[in-house]
Amino acid sequence: MTIFVYEMKSRLIREKFIQFFTERGHYHQPAVPIVNKDDPSLLFVNAGMNPFKDIILGNQPIVTPRVATVQPCLRVSGKHNDLEEVGVDTYHHTLFEMLGNWSFGNYFKQEAIKWSWELLTEVYKLPKDRIYVTIFAGDSQDNLQMDREAAQIWAQYLPEERILPFPKKDNFWEMGAHGPCGPCAEIHIDIRSEAERKAVPAADLVNKDHPHVIEIWNLVFMQYNRQASGKLVDLPNKHIDTGMGFERLAMVLQGKQSNYDTDIFTPLIAKIAQIVGKQYNQSETTAVAMRVIADHLRAVAFSIADGQAPSNTKAGYVMRRILRRAIRYGYSHLGMHRPFIYQLVSVLVEQVEGVYPNLTMQQAYIEQVIQVEEAAFLNTLATGLQLLNQLGQSKLNQGVIDGRVAFELYDTHGFPLDLTLLIAKEQGLSVDEAGFQQALQEQKLRSQKDASTAYSDWHMLSTEPQPHFVGYDQCRTKTTIVQWRTVTDKHGLNYQLVLAKTPFYPEGGGQVADAGSIVAGGETIAVLDVQKEHGLIIHTVHQLPADLAQPVEACVDVTKRTLAANNHTATHLLQATLKQVLGPHVIQKGSLVTPALLRFDFAHPTKLSAEQIQSVESIVNETIRANIACLEQHNVPLEAAKAMGAEGLFGEKYGATVRVVGFDQFSIELCGGTHVPFTGQIGLFKIVSETSIGTGIRRIEAITATVAESFVTTQSSDMAAIATLLAKPKNLVKAVETLVNEKKQLQKQLAIYQEKEIQQVATQLQCKLEEVDGVYCLIQAVQVPHVDALRQMALQYKLKYEQVFVVLATQLDNKAHIAVLLSDVLQKRFGKNAYDFIKWIAPYIDGNGGGQPFFATARGDKPEGIPVALQKASALFSKLMA
Ligand code: ALA
Repeated sequence: MTIFVYEMKSRLIREKFIQFFTERGHYHQPAVPIVNKDDPSLLFVNAGMNPFKDIILGNQPIVTPRVATVQPCLRVSGKHNDLEEVGVDTYHHTLFEMLGNWSFGNYFKQEAIKWSWELLTEVYKLPKDRIYVTIFAGDSQDNLQMDREAAQIWAQYLPEERILPFPKKDNFWEMGAHGPCGPCAEIHIDIRSEAERKAVPAADLVNKDHPHVIEIWNLVFMQYNRQASGKLVDLPNKHIDTGMGFERLAMVLQGKQSNYDTDIFTPLIAKIAQIVGKQYNQSETTAVAMRVIADHLRAVAFSIADGQAPSNTKAGYVMRRILRRAIRYGYSHLGMHRPFIYQLVSVLVEQVEGVYPNLTMQQAYIEQVIQVEEAAFLNTLATGLQLLNQLGQSKLNQGVIDGRVAFELYDTHGFPLDLTLLIAKEQGLSVDEAGFQQALQEQKLRSQKDASTAYSDWHMLSTEPQPHFVGYDQCRTKTTIVQWRTVTDKHGLNYQLVLAKTPFYPEGGGQVADAGSIVAGGETIAVLDVQKEHGLIIHTVHQLPADLAQPVEACVDVTKRTLAANNHTATHLLQATLKQVLGPHVIQKGSLVTPALLRFDFAHPTKLSAEQIQSVESIVNETIRANIACLEQHNVPLEAAKAMGAEGLFGEKYGATVRVVGFDQFSIELCGGTHVPFTGQIGLFKIVSETSIGTGIRRIEAITATVAESFVTTQSSDMAAIATLLAKPKNLVKAVETLVNEKKQLQKQLAIYQEKEIQQVATQLQCKLEEVDGVYCLIQAVQVPHVDALRQMALQYKLKYEQVFVVLATQLDNKAHIAVLLSDVLQKRFGKNAYDFIKWIAPYIDGNGGGQPFFATARGDKPEGIPVALQKASALFSKLMA
């Protein structure tokens, strides 16, 4: 069934959307990175409104009252999670693009509804009679009425029988457990054939998960903030927040029945089909697998481009799960036992050319990360699948896989739970998820990493507008407390304060938070941490001032601030220098700036040579000596900053205006951190390590100023001490080299002598060997040069005799060592193994043992216990022989 005579290409769909709203006074704001850095409650951008949360909550001023965006979103964790549906159906995705328009305290329902109708019916030319809308039916628990206003406005455009009320679950949109929310109106479209439409009215299928009667656009009327307590409070302004599913709209406008048949997916699916040598529609299984892979590849590639590669924690782990799900589908259903998903990146890059330049610029890096991840997981996949198959055959516990087994698969084989669930389901099994969660919880408790954090609601002390940061110019400020709340976590109960103005730099841009204190009356309260959250600067303290209303003085620790500033500027100089020395592919992948050191992670395929490190150090130090002034510009429009050649960071969210920090033309970066006024203040820059921290990523750690000076001083005094020890040779390096070579020679000679000694002991032992009815026994204390000699000697007997029992003990460096050998035949005969013997006798030397059934050893602190231990071994042996 096609409702259109021509197919609108997806590129044009995006363009028309933006054009429509810019013509109506909206600013087209570029998309933000999909990985959230400053919102601990949300790992990924899950709706186009996320970047505007602070404006909606009133924490940030409304600068642009009308905005339109095309925003990639991920719904794979938290409140909005579609992962299970993806690929199995044809209209859910992990990553999808959301087309949205916003009014911040500007227009409301009337215009939002009118424009959505106009755009859909006049620009995209959707047939009006196939459109249905839903409105909020009200909710008694929240004490909210039905949204009659929205219903009345809609009635201007479509008949009442196509305006359907739905409860809170469907028509009250909330970003998460708390935060901005409001009633919404959803626009649904019926793309079924005429016959189907006649048979069942679409009104009966709205919100019923029908693949062809689907929601395409959600208009949210933002009015409330849901507090941590669950209570709704009015927002300072009313806002419009809309989101239209780009892939679904493309399906409709291209006359398709599946999102995967649109031009957004067909090139990816064609490439998969070509690589695996199977057709998309060969079977439902191949179709699902190809959809999963095409979808997941997009999520993973966008995330890597935005700076979040797969890893073991948080957002990185979500990405790893998604990629592993795709690899598993390829492995089990398309027979792909080698990496291949990375080959799809080039197809994706071609498709989003010009729309998401991040991907284009980092294509090679994205491919490399995915390929390495694929290879690693394929290695463990085979083992894990085998284990699961065995479980499947044995139908453990009436078709339920033990939660602990699922946990072991997760913990040792890297099988995410959703993958285990999926495979189990394919085999007609279920998984004891509660058992899994319990095992996970126990592990978390064990590693004491799990710290859930609970916040109270904010207590507002004043209505001071927009608290602000004054720390670029001041380190001490007289101010007042605007709001406070409690926070309870693994550290116990603390308090968090927002000040009317603050000199405290909140952790951000890699730089750690300022240290310091808040002085209130006679009290000095240490500031434990400073974080930025939703546009607020939050200071954590142990205690509240006795009088919260009195003025306070916020004092930053200036020494630490200065050291951090040195390191931050040095990081900029380092980045510019690395690009100069290694090439423009050096892209920042992470950084840490503390008073003690700086750490800089960057994309580069190979280890830096000693010469490269030296030349980087020398250029940075030259720039320091040039004493270049810092040119700091605030509120530069983003486009103007880019035109200056300012370096931004992939994966960083920038507002419409930015701060630019420059040191001549040598380094210009978008940065919010604190810097030195002149580079000369840094004094000295020294690289202390250069390592690899992941595929294609290097890490440099360096120090500056007094820290670098004391490092150099310690090094040179160590050198002087070494020179004295070696009698001040002319060439110190040569002298150490000679010493090392001589040591090697001596070790070789020593090994020869020791070997001879061991042979002698072994010969002497031969006559101590006793034999009774073909059973050989040797229980002896010996003197040997090293512990390994015990093992060597004992194992010789294993080769010689079928039935043999050997216990050898020695004292070395005031420790007792015992080795026990028990041949296989004797193990069977005694019903005991070497390890049982060791456990039995180790306590006599105050030790512990370990080993294998045929050979075990123990080490203890009581050498004088050796004779008793041997006696006990002998007694037990005699008993077993009897
Ligand atoms: N924020 C709304 C949504 O994501 C538009 O559906």
